[in-house]
Amino acid sequence: MIDLLACARTRYAAKTYDPARKIPAPLIEQLRALARLSPSSVNSQPWHFVVASTDEGKARIAKATHGLHAYNAPKILNASHVFVLCTRHTLTDAHLDAVIEQEARDGRHPTEQARQVRRETMLKYADLHRYAHRDAQAWMEKQTYIALGVLLMGAAALDLDATPIEGFDNAVLDQELGLPEQGFTSTLVVPLGYHGADDFNTRLPKSRFPAEGLFTDI
Ligand SMILES: Cc1cc2nc3c(=O)[nH]c(=O)nc-3n(C[C@H](O)[C@H](O)[C@H](O)COP(=O)(O)O)c2cc1C
Repeated sequence: MIDLLACARTRYAAKTYDPARKIPAPLIEQLRALARLSPSSVNSQPWHFVVASTDEGKARIAKATHGLHAYNAPKILNASHVFVLCTRHTLTDAHLDAVIEQEARDGRHPTEQARQVRRETMLKYADLHRYAHRDAQAWMEKQTYIALGVLLMGAAALDLDATPIEGFDNAVLDQELGLPEQGFTSTLVVPLGYHGADDFNTRLPKSRFPAEGLFTDI
């Protein structure tokens, strides 16, 4: 059995990558599967994943690391693969219907009535965020961050290094990848691979607030 706690203790945000080391294809397939299987509120799956494995693909992503974000460029350029986690722009009825249809194909609605109930529940939550809270985009981005967590723990379990990156210009990356035309925006960039020998972060201890005070038991 995988020791998940050991993975959580030893994983860290890699700061440099060894450009010579590539992630074997079967492990990339596992990472893709993990992203796909991530849970999301009402099973909304409001995401899309761009995976760069070529130097050209990574260079396109690195275009979004000018100025303040320049320190993130070498991670993107030298990693074996880079996942861009994208989020839908708008929570459309068409997308919600597609979720319901997929669930039906996957055998999750035993009766037509069950399907209707499921659809109504989903719409209630979607409408809460679309019309009452007016935070549908932020709500969808929260789901994408769940995929980030799954991907980071999955990478650790597969003995891969990874870096969660918010430090990039998402407007530049959106244009570069043609995301607006597809109804998406870039939320996170995640280089994956094997850390470089010069990665100072491998030698630093992990730092978190102590457990005391972190939990309230009731
Ligand atoms: C959402 C998110 C965005 C982050 N953005 C960056 C980034 O742009 N560049 C970077 O080097 N590290 C980035 N980090 C890494 C964090 O600094 C790191 O996860 C944190 O210090 C905890 O350390 P650990 O991941 O090594 O345990 C980010 C982490 C998260 C979760």
